[in-house]
Amino acid sequence: PGKKGRIDFEQVSFSYDGEGGQPVLKQISFTCLPGETVGIIGSTGAGKSSLVGLIPRFYDVTEGTIRVDGMDVRDIEPKRLREKMAIVPQKTMLFTGTVLENIRWGKAEATHEEVEQAARMAQAHEFISATPDGYETRVGQGGVNFSGGQKQRISIARALVKKPEILILDDSTSAVDVATEGKIKDALRAYAAGLTCILIAQRITSVMDADKIIVLDNGEVVGIGTHDELMTSCQVYQEIFQS
Ligand code: GTP
Repeated sequence: PGKKGRIDFEQVSFSYDGEGGQPVLKQISFTCLPGETVGIIGSTGAGKSSLVGLIPRFYDVTEGTIRVDGMDVRDIEPKRLREKMAIVPQKTMLFTGTVLENIRWGKAEATHEEVEQAARMAQAHEFISATPDGYETRVGQGGVNFSGGQKQRISIARALVKKPEILILDDSTSAVDVATEGKIKDALRAYAAGLTCILIAQRITSVMDADKIIVLDNGEVVGIGTHDELMTSCQVYQEIFQS
């Protein structure tokens, strides 16, 4: 018993065209323990989004195994699997409704209090409250045009309201300033049940304090460790750090 949200990648390879196709991920192995934050960094096209898309079974592995809490994900119905996790995609997808409706999209039966709690963690409560209509503010098309970073924070609130065991952030704080991003991460760390978090990022500062960072290059893991470990052992990581 105990904490949930462990993820194991065991020699995972993946091609969008199935066996014999061009591999996008090659022999990926790593473990993310319950409550850990694992950062994933690497150049564009390295395979980061493809890697996390395998966890909720948007696609299935071509070779190898992914386990969530010890179970091969192929033995779990996608619907059940996705109930455990929340994914904030690279492109925010807010619809033309109120802020409340947009956040509740993560969990239709969420109370107003739960919505507000999620928004506070995502550092969205303040700017939402500062609008005349608050949570009833309409998003887009005749409503308030929130900034890119604000939309990302609403998307994170939408994910958090679901109270997931696993949270996957696919470059979802790219438009959020570093200080606010830090506050979001602090809130996630304080999250009650201990949230397993997979964090894709372009900037080193976003993943620096992760328990473990995976450096992907051209579909392969070229480094895995803490920031300090990678700074001394991984050339690709050093190059990203210097860029
Ligand atoms: P950025 O999001 O740009 O930072 O890249 P990434 O590291 O997330 O890489 P991603 O997983 O998006 O892409 C890895 C490789 O898979 C690239 O060569 C893409 O062109 C390819 N790819 C991504 N999505 C698809 C898809 O839906 N179909 C096919 N056939 N290839 C894809």
